[in-house]
Amino acid sequence: MLGAAAMPQPQAWWFDSASTALAARPVQSGGRGSAWFVHGPFGDGVLRHYRRGGAMARLSQDRYLWGGEERVRSVAELHLLEALHARELPVPVPIAAAWWRDGATYRAAIIIARIPDAHTLASELAAGIDNEGGWRDAGAMIARFHAAGLEHGDLNAHNILFDAAAKPWLIDFDKSHLHSKPDHRRAKANLSRLERSILKVGAGQSPTYLQRVIDTLRLGYRVQGELA
Ligand SMILES: Nc1ncnc2c1ncn2[C@@H]1O[C@H](COP(=O)(O)OP(=O)(O)O)[C@@H](O)[C@H]1O
Ligand SMILES: [Mg+2]
Repeated sequence: MLGAAAMPQPQAWWFDSASTALAARPVQSGGRGSAWFVHGPFGDGVLRHYRRGGAMARLSQDRYLWGGEERVRSVAELHLLEALHARELPVPVPIAAAWWRDGATYRAAIIIARIPDAHTLASELAAGIDNEGGWRDAGAMIARFHAAGLEHGDLNAHNILFDAAAKPWLIDFDKSHLHSKPDHRRAKANLSRLERSILKVGAGQSPTYLQRVIDTLRLGYRVQGELA
C-alpha cells in the first residue's frame, strides 16, 4: 500500500466501502458502479476500485496482471494526478493508492479529494441545461491538458465536472498518459471521443442544442490553443 505525503498514514479500512466510519455512498452517475463518496481522516473523498470493462471483464472483473509496483493502476494514476496538480491543471488532489497482490494478479483502489458540489457535463446534457460559458471553459481546459502532453484514456462527458463556481475539472485518469510533448493526432482522437460521448448522453436533446455544445467546446479549445 502506498500513501501520499503530508497525509496521515493510509489505513486499509479507508479503501473498504463497507467501513462504517467512511459512510460510503455510491456515486450515482457514469462509471462502472465501483466509486463511492466517502469521508475519512483525509476529508471528503471519492474511493474507486479498479474494474475492467469490455471483453476482459468476463475473465476477471477486478484482477490485473502483476507487473511490478510502478505498473499498478492506482499507483500510476496517483502519480499522474500529482504531476498534473504540480502543473496547476484542474484535477482533484490524489489522497492515497492501494493494491492487494495475490500471486500473479492484483486488485487496486484509489482515493482522491472530492470536488464539492460538482456535477458532470453529462448531467447537464441529459437535462438539456444551457451552460455556454462552462462549455467554452471546458474546451479551453482540455486544450491546456493537451498542451501539457496529456492523453486522456477515457475523455467523456462523465469525466468533466463543474464545481459550484462553474469552474471545469477533469477526472478519471486510469489508462491516461503524460507524454513529453503534445501530439496533435492524439489530441484529435481524444476530442472525437468526447464528441461521440456528448451525442450519446444527450441523445434525447435536439441536434441544434448538441451542435451548440460541440461548437462551443471547440471554440474554447481553439481560442486557448491560440493563446498558448
Ligand atoms: N473528485 C471527484 N469529485 C466529485 N465527484 C467525482 C470525483 N471523482 C469522481 N466523481 C464522480 O464519480 C463518477 C465516477 O468516477 P470516475 O473517476 O469517473 O470513475 P469511473 O468512470 O471509472 O467509474 C464521476 O463521473 C463523477 O460523477
Ligand atoms: Mg469516469
